[in-house]
Amino acid sequence: MRRAVCPGSYDPATNGHLDIIERAASLFDEVVVAVLINKKKQGLFTVEERLDMLSEVTARLPNVRVDSWHGLLVDYCRAHGIAAIAKGLRSVSDFDYELQMAQMNRELSGVETLLMSNNPAYSFLSSSLVKEVATYGGDVSDMVPAVVRERLRAKLA
Ligand code: PNS
Repeated sequence: MRRAVCPGSYDPATNGHLDIIERAASLFDEVVVAVLINKKKQGLFTVEERLDMLSEVTARLPNVRVDSWHGLLVDYCRAHGIAAIAKGLRSVSDFDYELQMAQMNRELSGVETLLMSNNPAYSFLSSSLVKEVATYGGDVSDMVPAVVRERLRAKLA
């Protein structure tokens, strides 16, 4: 079985994340959307809240499941027989960061990383910006799934 992981902070998931998850699901037999901890970022949602939202928005994709992990991504891959990491690339600055992580993960464990070009319609999207816009009452309804929009509204009320 060809199994891949789409790892991320998903704090919260955006339409850009969803696009990459759907496209990865069309390439692999099974895709695990894994919520991991990025030490550089402070979270708004708990890991459980992120998993709830991800479960809801991926429910229609039969070969996608969600999970969380508090350690190294490569250890998750090893423990679950995952040979590929699939991530989206929005920009050249993403590339620098993603390339470094891809090389580190390959060095640590041999796991391959597939960097998929983002749909240009979502190039400007990031969870951080979505949170900032929502914090000040901006309309993010075209940027995130409806469940995420509602959770943002409740969280920031
Ligand atoms: O959505 P993000 O914040 O860009 O995702 C980054 C993430 C969570 C995938 C990355 O920080 C990660 O893999 N964290 C788990 C710990 C780990 O393996 N760190 C070494 C990365 S080379």
